[in-house]
Amino acid sequence: MQYRKDSPIGVIDSGIGGFSVARQVQKLLPEENLIYLGDGAHIPYGNHPQETIVAMARYMFRFMERRQVKALLVACNTISCVVEQCESAVSCPTINAVQAGADAVSRMDVEKVGVISTVFTHQSRCYPRRIRAQSPKKVVVLSCGCPDLARLVEHNLGDPEGMAQVEDNLRKELDHMVLVDKIQCCVLGCTHYPLVTDSIHKLYPDLPLVDPAEQMALDLRDYLDREGLRREAGIPGRLDIFTTGDVKEYALRAKQVGLERLGSVAFYPPMEL
Ligand code: DGL
Repeated sequence: MQYRKDSPIGVIDSGIGGFSVARQVQKLLPEENLIYLGDGAHIPYGNHPQETIVAMARYMFRFMERRQVKALLVACNTISCVVEQCESAVSCPTINAVQAGADAVSRMDVEKVGVISTVFTHQSRCYPRRIRAQSPKKVVVLSCGCPDLARLVEHNLGDPEGMAQVEDNLRKELDHMVLVDKIQCCVLGCTHYPLVTDSIHKLYPDLPLVDPAEQMALDLRDYLDREGLRREAGIPGRLDIFTTGDVKEYALRAKQVGLERLGSVAFYPPMEL
């Protein structure tokens, strides 16, 4: 497919988590147009079996292919673990969160790394494998899978009672790795978690956090520059959001997390499971 500088960039996630990636791209590449699809009808992905995750992800990849995106950001870490089984559904290059997170860790001077993620990402061992393959020296990778955290973040931003539940859950999942295992940094291996970094910093002020979104935005910029596909500077890009979930909630969350230049928020019918 012939891409144009004006072609949009796709971002997919199981829910609002990928807003943390869209936000990073808006910061680094403000002139780019973004199309976001969040599968609110089926969140949490991390508690589904692999065949279902692949089928739901391919449905989202096809959505983006029809919109002729010039790059697809697979923001969802859970989908990133099965990305090889989805890529044939699009013709553009993909950039995935797990690879970006592993790349980011490989540039750090650490020997013991923690990863918090969904249950699926944890059980797939995708992060430990990629971090070890990527890192020049021997790194110990500890990980934990959180069955409830993404869902709690998805629906509780800005609500003090809900955020207290998020913080209780963070403590339950992270205390051991931080206080007993003494990890030197923690990869936020689910896109929802960077949306609550203030809470994580409050609970663990000395713990360095790795948000794969930063590396994803840098990789995207490199690709666009390499291919001469960067949109002309000067005219700010827009963000169009689609969700298989609640349109009003997505519009509210987009504002809460600081997304800018919001064009539209629209419903898209979910895949039938
Ligand atoms: N935010 C997604 C991720 O990065 C998953 C959350 C979920 O749907 O379980 O893995």
